[in-house]
Amino acid sequence: MNQKYKVMVIFGTRPEAIKMAPLIPELQKYPDTFEALSCSTGQHREMLKQVLEIFEITPTYELDVMVPNQTLAGLTSRLIQRLDSLFGEVRPDCVLVHGDTTTSLAAALAAYYHKIPVGHVEAGLRTYDRYQPFPEEMNRHLVDALSTFHFAPTQTAANHLVKENINNDYICITGNTVIDALQLVVKKPCELPLDIDWENKKVILVTAHRRENHGKPLEDICNALHKIVDTYPDVEIIYPVHYNPNVKEPVFKRLGDIDRIHLTEPLHYLQFSHLMSKSYLILTDSGGIQEEAPSLGVPVLVLRDVTERPEAVEAGTVRVVGTDTERILAEVDRLMDMGNHQAMAQAANPYGDGTASTRIVNILKEALAS
Ligand code: UD1
Ligand code: UDP
Repeated sequence: MNQKYKVMVIFGTRPEAIKMAPLIPELQKYPDTFEALSCSTGQHREMLKQVLEIFEITPTYELDVMVPNQTLAGLTSRLIQRLDSLFGEVRPDCVLVHGDTTTSLAAALAAYYHKIPVGHVEAGLRTYDRYQPFPEEMNRHLVDALSTFHFAPTQTAANHLVKENINNDYICITGNTVIDALQLVVKKPCELPLDIDWENKKVILVTAHRRENHGKPLEDICNALHKIVDTYPDVEIIYPVHYNPNVKEPVFKRLGDIDRIHLTEPLHYLQFSHLMSKSYLILTDSGGIQEEAPSLGVPVLVLRDVTERPEAVEAGTVRVVGTDTERILAEVDRLMDMGNHQAMAQAANPYGDGTASTRIVNILKEALAS
């Protein structure tokens, strides 16, 4: 009988769960080759639960590590302890981690301590500024150094790994699994949670949560949003606010009671993806949204100074504008012109064709058996 490989898919935050979800059914297609295991670290609690419901995932293992307003060091140490025990008990043949979160770093390190090969999904993204995004840029470098299999979403990401002399045997360009996930949900019917006159209003969708934007940059973003609704009577802003108290408290304090600014709870991925596709414009500091919006043909202004996703900028759908109030206003003003808006609202798909998870599983099938 052929050997069966225990592959454990790890996730802990909302974006990791979204981007790892398509891999689980893909691994399950080959029950003679893989025992597909999944582990939710619970780095996020409520926001993770929303995603698991949409993709109908019941994790094999749940670690429930989140505490309110957790510190990076506290979270990292809890994760390493819990994952170390789990890996010791289960002995997976391969652990798959995603991107650049604390969950990914802790899982890659704990797996390395057990000499378990790590597969890094979304490998090779870089800004080459160690504090932007913080701590994600450092996490990416470290996870890539710890990993055996590097699943780079694009040629640019693969080039970074080659340039850094990362072991070249398993650097594979796969596309980004976010497109697989988006294609799974965007076809499903969905009721949007807000009563808005979609025909006559321009909806601006906003998200902002990054650590380097906490404090003054977030205040400046809030001031820009206030000025936008004051300036444009046909604009409605929808802002699903991240549960991090460093985000939620200042945002509700500044924008909680302003006409045409709708602050909501974080939305289910199904609702959020439909909302993206119906929006006139998206303002965000999120990573994943920079990858999704181009394939929906919705312009994005990135509320950061740098991005690790240059492909969408090159494709013309995404512009990096920072967090300065006046700059945001000027960029929004430019896009109120239909010509400028049309020029950015071109559907582009630099992140793949929805088959990244199939490619990754095929590579694993070959690599683990060799
Ligand atoms: C984390 C990731 C970031 C990713 C983001 C996605 C790291 C270092 N950062 O940042 O890369 O972009 O997730 O959203 O891994 N909270 C809740 N309920 C939830 C989720 C969060 O209450 O469901 C609150 C808690 O108080 C928690 C805090 O948010 O302590 C921060 O969560 P954490 O995962 O540490 O940081 P994020 O800013 O969410
Ligand atoms: N998202 C969601 N509901 C929301 C906001 C975002 O489902 O209210 C999705 C979004 O479509 C994307 C992912 O969450 O797939 C991005 O997560 P986040 O911005 O938290 O993390 P990042 O991508 O910045 O790491």
